[in-house]
Amino acid sequence: MKGAMLVGGFGTRLRPLTITIPKPMLPLVNRPFLEIELLHLKQYGVDDVVLSTGYLPAIFDEYFGDGSKLGMNLVRVAEDKPLGTCGAIKNVAEHLGREPVIVCNGDILTDLDVGALVKYHKEKGAAVTITLTPVEDPTAYGLVPLDEEGRIIEFLEKPSWDQVVTNLINAGTYVLDPRVLDQVPPGENYSFERQLFPDLLAQGEPMYGFPSDCYWLDLGTPEKYLAAHHDILEGHVDVPIDSRSSGDRVFIGEGVKIDESARIYGPLLVGNGVEIGPEAEVGAQTCLGDGVKVGAKAHIEGSVILEGAVIGEGCSIDHSIIGRGTVLGPEVRVAELSVLGDNIEAGGENEFRRGIRIWPSTIIEAGKIKF
Ligand code: GDD
Ligand code: MG
Repeated sequence: MKGAMLVGGFGTRLRPLTITIPKPMLPLVNRPFLEIELLHLKQYGVDDVVLSTGYLPAIFDEYFGDGSKLGMNLVRVAEDKPLGTCGAIKNVAEHLGREPVIVCNGDILTDLDVGALVKYHKEKGAAVTITLTPVEDPTAYGLVPLDEEGRIIEFLEKPSWDQVVTNLINAGTYVLDPRVLDQVPPGENYSFERQLFPDLLAQGEPMYGFPSDCYWLDLGTPEKYLAAHHDILEGHVDVPIDSRSSGDRVFIGEGVKIDESARIYGPLLVGNGVEIGPEAEVGAQTCLGDGVKVGAKAHIEGSVILEGAVIGEGCSIDHSIIGRGTVLGPEVRVAELSVLGDNIEAGGENEFRRGIRIWPSTIIEAGKIKF
């Protein structure tokens, strides 16, 4: 079966991480998130996939090429300008054929049973089937109320609370009959959620919702990006981790040096070539990227430290994200969902708190920021 992935967005809510890496290519447990999504599709025989790129397309091209290293056939099509969710799929329609296809938002971590979704779509004779998931706050998503037969009644994209009539939202995985794209104008910015789907409903096309209680997370914000790491490390969703596990969910890569006096607590992933210095403490729900260096007496908890970052002596990192190659001097504090981009140099004793975001390659003198 063929699939198409929407991976062209700017990922603005995840800046500054997405200044240098498109959201679907951000590492999740030390491998590009999109690879995890593609291998999930492949399990269900969806191995012929079009990537609809737009923002930083070369990063996808360099990593995936034609997909052969994943045993898949990947076609990559980059937009000159953002075409919106539906316009982007219209733009790649020539690669999709005329049989039903899977369309996925490129920022969803899920263990959805894609086989069951496709079966449901065929049984219902649907033109479009939309996977639905329950969430606590539907106002950040697309609300999709159903009738008793599972037919979609309405689309309410990013509703206000007074419009909330169900907790089921569009989970961002669809089965489409490609003929529904025939009515979409080519080369124009066009939305599934606000244009094509409501139009198809008005035309009386059979559109069904497929409610699922599978694991589901939209990775679009720093909080959700950390939560995805926590859930994988805790084993709440089954994502393969490349490194060896000691059995208590402590995963350690190759060529790692951990000082005898350092203490580590699972669930934890330590990438290849990581060094952890004397009396450092690396706490639960943390992911250290390849080549990360943790200085003596540093303390890290509930955080993601990306490849090649250097955490100075006595630093404390709590529920925050540190970008690739960023270097922190001694006694730096980073806490409360703060995000430091790639290749920052921050001198000693700076304090980053309350969700502060620092742009890539910023140089900060010692003791300058106490936020
Ligand atoms: N190629 C391309 N071109 N891709 C795009 C474009 C575009 O112009 N705009 C967005 N995308 C991609 C993004 O990269 C992302 O993978 C996906 O489309 C969805 O975009 P988001 O910006 O993440 O949308 P959202 O999270 O606010 O809302 C969507 O997803 C929700 C579920 O997470 C909607 O589909 C909601 O209805 C849904 O509930
Ligand atoms: Mg999203």
